[in-house]
Amino acid sequence: NLPPVIAIDGPTASGKGTVASLVAEKLGFHYLDSGALYRLVALGSQKASIDPKNGPELGILATNLVISFKNGQILLNSEDVTEVIRTESIGLRASAIAVHPEVRQALVGVQHSFRTIPGLVADGRDMASVIFPDAVLKVFLTATAEARAERRYKQLIAKGISVKLADLLHDLQERDARDSSRGTAPLLVAEGAKVLETSELSIDQAVKTVLDWYQSKA
Ligand code: C5P
Repeated sequence: NLPPVIAIDGPTASGKGTVASLVAEKLGFHYLDSGALYRLVALGSQKASIDPKNGPELGILATNLVISFKNGQILLNSEDVTEVIRTESIGLRASAIAVHPEVRQALVGVQHSFRTIPGLVADGRDMASVIFPDAVLKVFLTATAEARAERRYKQLIAKGISVKLADLLHDLQERDARDSSRGTAPLLVAEGAKVLETSELSIDQAVKTVLDWYQSKA
């Protein structure tokens, strides 16, 4: 009798993190941002100068990383890296190291450990297909590449980070292609998942849709 899981998967910058954390808040559930784990491995491997192609060594690094999530802060070996892991370059490196089965395997246990009462909302690429195949609700949250690039653009500009929209669109398409085509746990619409297209939806509308779907299952 494991606590219920709502799995929310989707491409980069689809808004799944925002939607998933709000759904978790509404339900009083725990929240897992699985992408942050891959970003932490990316950052750790950069610090340790490990080649992003070296699966076995990355797997060892991922197994030994000391990670903690505390009050919205993300710590790596007790250093606060909450902001550092959000950059585009770490995002790209995360998608490069995420292709290795050794890395993915090393992160399974920590992801499962988030499943505690009263329940969990987990977002990522393979929450429904691999990590929580028994999720009560599986959502594939997406939007057009243009809508996603524009959202990311506005976020970064608001933070005072100067970027070009065309560059963001290019990076995002590169990441989509890699995440969708890899052999292990590719980004896909899992069997039984409901697709939520958010290009024309507000955050509130997307959150409400997921909550309605969950209520209809509960
Ligand atoms: O979601 P986010 O953009 O933070 O994820 C960064 C990268 O980590 C993704 O591009 C993807 O390659 C990888 N990832 C993954 N499986 C997950 C979550 C993220 O492969 N469950």
